[in-house]
Amino acid sequence: MEPILRAHRLRKHYGTGTGLVRAVDDVDLDVAPGEALGVVGPSGCGKSTLLHLLGMLDRPDGGQIWLGGERVDRLSETAAARLRRRAVGFVFQAFHLVDELTARENVELPALLAGASPRAARRRAAALLDRVGLADRAAHLPAQLSGGQRQRVAVARALVNDPGLLLADEPTGNLDTAATGEVLRLFDELRAEGRTLVIVTHDSRIAAAADRLITMRDGVFVDQTVLGRTGHGTGLGAISGLV
Ligand SMILES: Nc1ncnc2c1ncn2[C@@H]1O[C@H](COP(=O)(O)OP(=O)(O)OP(=O)(O)O)[C@@H](O)[C@H]1O
Ligand SMILES: [Mg+2]
Repeated sequence: MEPILRAHRLRKHYGTGTGLVRAVDDVDLDVAPGEALGVVGPSGCGKSTLLHLLGMLDRPDGGQIWLGGERVDRLSETAAARLRRRAVGFVFQAFHLVDELTARENVELPALLAGASPRAARRRAAALLDRVGLADRAAHLPAQLSGGQRQRVAVARALVNDPGLLLADEPTGNLDTAATGEVLRLFDELRAEGRTLVIVTHDSRIAAAADRLITMRDGVFVDQTVLGRTGHGTGLGAISGLV
């Protein structure tokens, strides 16, 4: 099957001379449609940098990236932003919600930026907040939500433009066990819908539930474990059920 996401000799270096950091160092990666890929590795090994490159949040110094068969690493900033909004959802460890906006407004925002009518954005945000179990918190500001609730708002926001690919950077890093279980269950549902997930994690439960696990060290992949087959594994939910 044609990969939904492909990177070839992807590179991002920071600094020069003795200060040179090879954050991502000529990495090759294929992600199959519907796959749940976990990325693990010690702090500073390049996981976030890789994710930012894959999601077009940052530019590589070298190499190529294809998203859905389309070469994306040479797109203009505007074209990249447009494609990113439509095709990629992001979830971050620190949630990155807008403090001044309510849960509903946070979810609506990327839809409005993508050109949806206020009415359509509102409808979609309401449906997604309902889906993540937060219909009754739509008018709350992030500060009025628990960590797990904030992350569920962030997942709803990531889904508002119906992306096929979800990139998550330590999505449960700030969550307790129960909230981690909620996010795991949500990810499992997204997988069942055929969405592709790339999840950077230190959480062994999330890592164990991926279809494939890549270990990074010093900007390169040092190990790969295939844990299950897309659509046929025990799934994240089976794991989160243990929580
Ligand atoms: N803007 C930057 N300028 C200089 N160096 C950077 C920059 N961003 C990241 N780095 C360096 O690149 C390396 C990879 O960083 P990255 O954030 O990708 O690591 P990580 O694997 O996500 O770590 P963690 O698990 O702590 O989040 C690190 O050594 C970091 O110090
Ligand atoms: Mg990181």
